[in-house]
Order: sequence, then C-alpha cells, then structure tokens
Amino acid sequence: MKNLTLQLVKTHKPSAGSTLVVFSSSVKSQKSSGAKLSSASAQKTLQASVDDHTITGKAQETCVFRSVSVDGYSNVVVLGLGSDRKPESFRQMAAGFHSCIKAMKSTDICVQWDGTGLGKKDLSAATQAFVEGLLLSDYNFDELKSKKKDDEKAAAKEIRVSLVSKFAADASLKKAFNEAEVLAGCVNFSRRLGDLPGNLMTPTNLADSIVEAVKGTGVKTEIWDRARIKKEKMGGLYGVARGSHEEPRFIILRYNGAAKTKKPIVFVGKGLTFDSGGISLKPGAAMEEMKYDMCGGANVLGGFLAIAKLKLKVNAIALVPSTENMPGGSATKPGDVHTARNGKTFEVNNTDAEGRLILSDALCFGSEQAPQMMVDAATLTGAIIVALGNTHTGFFTKNEALSKKIQAAADKTGELVWRMPLVDHHTKDMKGTFADLSNISAGKGAGSATAAAFLEQFVEEGIPWAHFDIAGTAWAVGGRLPYCPKKGASGVLVRTFVELARQFT
Ligand code: BES
Ligand code: ZN
Ligand code: ZN
Repeated sequence: MKNLTLQLVKTHKPSAGSTLVVFSSSVKSQKSSGAKLSSASAQKTLQASVDDHTITGKAQETCVFRSVSVDGYSNVVVLGLGSDRKPESFRQMAAGFHSCIKAMKSTDICVQWDGTGLGKKDLSAATQAFVEGLLLSDYNFDELKSKKKDDEKAAAKEIRVSLVSKFAADASLKKAFNEAEVLAGCVNFSRRLGDLPGNLMTPTNLADSIVEAVKGTGVKTEIWDRARIKKEKMGGLYGVARGSHEEPRFIILRYNGAAKTKKPIVFVGKGLTFDSGGISLKPGAAMEEMKYDMCGGANVLGGFLAIAKLKLKVNAIALVPSTENMPGGSATKPGDVHTARNGKTFEVNNTDAEGRLILSDALCFGSEQAPQMMVDAATLTGAIIVALGNTHTGFFTKNEALSKKIQAAADKTGELVWRMPLVDHHTKDMKGTFADLSNISAGKGAGSATAAAFLEQFVEEGIPWAHFDIAGTAWAVGGRLPYCPKKGASGVLVRTFVELARQFT
C-alpha cells in the first residue's frame, strides 16, 4: 500500500463505510475495572467489549469493530494508549494501526486525535511521532516485482487518514505534522537507495539519485569521477575502486542555511554499493546482504536532504565516498600499500576492511572544510553486531560535549545509540609494519573500536568527531521496530542526524 494520505483537520464528516478511531487508556490506570474510551458514544456502544476485557487499553492493542455505527461512522477502531505517552510509543502504535487499516479496506479514516488527553506541547511531539510511524510503516519496496506490482496497483485505493484536533490550526501542531512528513519522506528515500540491488544502485546511480533529489532545495552538488578521485590523491577510495569496472564517485553536497562565516557541520557516509570482500573474498552465505554496505552513505544523504528541506539555519556538508569492493584483475592485493589524502600510508592486509579506507579520504576532505563538528556513519564492522546486536547503533567519540549532543538527539528521536570505548590502545593496534598504518588490528577483539581508531587518523586534531557503526542497525530491524521493514533497509540515523544538526543552529 502506497496510497496513504494524511491530513490534520479540525472537523471531519463521516462518509459511507468510514471508520472512527478512538483511544483507550489502560485498565490498570483506571480506578474502575474497565478501560476508558476517549469517546463517550463509542464507550456506550462498546461497553460489552470493555466489560469482557476485549478492550484493555494496553500499548500496541488495536481492536476493530465493524458495522457498529458510532456518530455516523460504520466502523470503530480502538487504539490502546498503554501506560506512557512517550513519542516512541506513538510511533510504534502507528505501526500497529497501519497494518490494521491496511487489512480493513476502509478508505476514510478519522482519528479523534484529542482523545490522547495530551496538552498542546506533548500533543505536538506525539503528532510528529504518530505521523512518522504511519508513513514509515507505509514504506514498501516492490518496484522490482512485475506481476505483483500490477495486481496491487489495480487493487489499490487511496486511504485518507484524518487526524482531528481542535488544535489543528495551531502553528506548533502544523509544524510537527509537516516535519514528520519531511522526515519520514527522507528516511524512506534512504531506505529505497539501500534496498535497490547492487546492479542498479551503483556509485553512479547513488550520485545521480541525490543530485535529482536535492533539485529545488538550493543544495550545491559536486561529483568526482575516478580520474578526479585519483588526481585529488584519494588513495583509499581509488585503491578500493581498482578491483571494479564500475566507476567510483565522491559525492560532495553543500547546504548554506546560515551566515557564510559560520563553520559547517560535516556528515560522512560509507557508500560501498557492493562489498564482495575483494581479494579477501567473503564467504557466499548472505553475501547478497552486502548491497546494504552503502547505507551509511544513503542515510547521510537522507538526513542531509531533510536538513535542506526543513531549511535549518545551519551550514552543512555531506560527503559520500562510493565504490564497489570487487576482486578484479587490478584489485588491491593483501599487503599492498596506498596513501590517503593526508599523506598517511597504510598496508591493506585484508581487502575486506575497505570501509575504513574509503572513509579515510572523505574524513581528510571533511577536515579541510574546518567544520565545527564532523560525524560519519558506516556499516563498518561485523564486530559491532557481536557487541550490540541489532538494537543499538554504536558510536565512538573522544569529545564529551559531542557525545552529550548525540545522546540528546537520539533521546529525542527514539533511535537507540550506545557509546563505545575508544582509547590509545586501539590506536596502537592499528600501526603498520611497512607503512604508517595497517587496515586490520594487530590485537584480538574490539574490532569496531580499532576500526574507529583507524578512522581517527584522518580527522584533524581539534575537530569534534564521532563515528557511528550501523552494521547491526542498517537493515533487518523490523523484528525490533514495528515501523521498519522486516528484511529491508531501516534508514537508521536519518532522523537523529537532523536532530543533531538542530543543536548547531
Ligand atoms: N561491510 C563490512 C562490515 C559488515 C559485516 C557490515 C556484516 C554488515 C554486516 C566490512 O567492510 C567488513 O567486511 N569488515 C570486516 C573487517 C575485518 C576484515 C577486519 C569485518 O567486520 O569482518
Ligand atoms: Zn568489507
Ligand atoms: Zn564493507
């Protein structure tokens, strides 16, 4: 279903077959023994279902009542409010609600939004989260299916969901609603880039996609090809790209929302469009998932797009080094030595540790922009999955103030992040034998931290920098987060990066 349209309105008139959505607060939080519905007429009609505990008001509960006729509506859906009123709970509630209306086939749906009982301020945050949750749940990657796509197209009807609130004309509520639409749109943009397979989502295509997407936003784009990458002394990116016939790209985007004198914030993302491992070839099992190795890049682009669309008063730069990692005849071999843009040399002792190599040049270039802050996102190590599974994104920084900002941003968006250690021991482990650095650790364990320590070598001293390892959270997190696809890309960090950028406005 891709035909969901949302609106925020003051009143709504029921039509034939339309559905009323009311909230139910938890039995436990009531003094009486039954759940309390936010609509008196719905309560009256559904009292029997309250009494027999069909409706309990628990979080994630959705009860559908067809042909019950309440206030002119044919159907009623009761959504459980649960015991907290956190934005993330509304985001997750929206996912359950989405699958419910998808199954119902009612096309005119009225949500009695004031029934949450929240005050104006909390209502804005809840509105943003609920709208995000609905639109994120509405994402579906089916563009490569032929027959199914046609069937679904024929069956698809537009479903209109109206959030009805007496505050609908209120500036803060409207803003929350609009921001949610932009954010969810950008997360879904990133997800699609991630879900497209390696043969379609090449470095060239990745660059073309973002150039197209930023049209009309005032964002300046600059795309470097293989020859330019070589000329610019990006030995890391160039070295990885040697093994592939596909042209690499270095993507540079600039958005100026603040005075020219204000230092930019820089976002860097790993845009590895397929990671075969190179000469240090990966095993075959699940290798197809390595099309997702560009999700750091995709999500940085989505976040940057949202920053530009929301017109945040900040100067921002997005950098995405993009290439395939393939074992072609000219590919980098284990032991080969390359030189990064800042002159540091590294031995490539395992060609599968390529993410850090392409990021090295991007971090050098980012440092040259004299940013007030630089962050990068990358599906960098399998080790972070061992450490954190698919719940938390691990982040590494030595800057306390930036760490606090990151945690505050993530607390706002509900995305789970976890700070990981990064100390001099990790740096020592990355020393080379024949070159300055080795791209794999001499020590045992802590593979994500040693990768971060390698990246740190390319960030100019004094620049507040953080690295996010999204290998565990970039795709297949639907079992944890109901508004994310079960198998596909998640768009993780898009919303948190926008929130982080807000702290620099
Ligand atoms: N893209 C992979 C990391 C990865 C693995 C992401 C699994 C998502 C799921 C990265 O390029 C890689 O292969 N890293 C190696 C590094 C090792 C050779 C030091 C790894 O983690 O095994
Ligand atoms: Zn790799
Ligand atoms: Zn990789």
